[in-house]
Amino acid sequence: MKAILTKPPGGGVEIADIKLRIEEGLKLRTLRTGICGTDKEIVEGRLSFARPEIGEKLVLGHEALAVIEDPGSSVTFRKGDIVVPMVRRPGKCKMCRLGRQDYCEDGDFVEAGIRGRDGFMREEFYDKEKFLVKVEDRSIEDLAVLTEPLKNVMKMVEIFNFQKLRIPTYCDDSTMSCKNLYVFGTGTEGLLISAVFKTMGLNVIAVNRHPPRETVAKFLDSNNITYLDTSREPISSYVKKCPMDFAIDAVGSMDVMRDISLNISRNGIVILFGTSGQLPSSNYEFLGNLVDYNIAVVGSVDGAKIHYSEAIQFITNYGRKMGLGRLITGIYSPEETNIFTQNEKDEIKKVINWS
Ligand code: BGC
Ligand code: ZN
Ligand code: ZN
Repeated sequence: MKAILTKPPGGGVEIADIKLRIEEGLKLRTLRTGICGTDKEIVEGRLSFARPEIGEKLVLGHEALAVIEDPGSSVTFRKGDIVVPMVRRPGKCKMCRLGRQDYCEDGDFVEAGIRGRDGFMREEFYDKEKFLVKVEDRSIEDLAVLTEPLKNVMKMVEIFNFQKLRIPTYCDDSTMSCKNLYVFGTGTEGLLISAVFKTMGLNVIAVNRHPPRETVAKFLDSNNITYLDTSREPISSYVKKCPMDFAIDAVGSMDVMRDISLNISRNGIVILFGTSGQLPSSNYEFLGNLVDYNIAVVGSVDGAKIHYSEAIQFITNYGRKMGLGRLITGIYSPEETNIFTQNEKDEIKKVINWS
């Protein structure tokens, strides 16, 4: 069968013919797989923790939608059901045993298509029932490939909801409509964060250092989300009209850390998700305000099974209404492996069609 392979830690990408390894569980056929920054980093040899499962090569792909081909002895799933497979697989620590491998305590987990486990960019694979999340509503089949990146956002909502309980974090009319959330980064993850938090009744400002690409501008406009181009107006001036009550970073650079630290309101909430930039260890001046203003800074990676279910529910409720389909800017065949290294004009999410 066809598969897309890489050779970590060096990277590269190739389409190859591989044998299907028979494993415990259900047999699945891949329908679609999405590509994210993590895949590009693996292909470019920039993700230090990428590693194969067996031998030298790793099957790429952690964002997937698949159909059950053979349910085996499963009573929950039937042939033809469509599912999203989970990325991270538990090790043996307490958090992993509790089904919260996203909070793994010792790093002894594997991640499909990223570290220590073959991914989903292949025509067929086997998987265990407990790592599959069913998409009940067939009408969202075209959007359900966004479940995996969206589950990361659902975990951020979980974190945000905990943090906001520290003190009464609502407006004097009991809603959140007076509160502003700045979302740094306008890739798929940044846009999904903006969309989800918008539905929670916050005023959302998506931030980047250049004018918005057309696809991004359309998506944000149609959802009443503001775009702040910091090359035209610096954050320090914009926060005077629109205080930064909350911030979520989906970039991961020192510049963004600084912008947040210098501009966040007192008692703010900051969630850090972006990892792409390199944080120089020598520069810690940004910590000053975070401490003095009681800012809760919370890092966030991955998500649990509940967040996959919440992501599917979100797509079911809001997928069409919010035009999440606009985020899928290109559908390609597995042979077009140049999509990992070439950036299309206006691209957001690239998807590979396997069926
Ligand atoms: C995935 C997460 C994963 C992280 C780090 C992201 O692209 O969405 O599930 O934990 O990469 O490997
Ligand atoms: Zn990803
Ligand atoms: Zn663990």
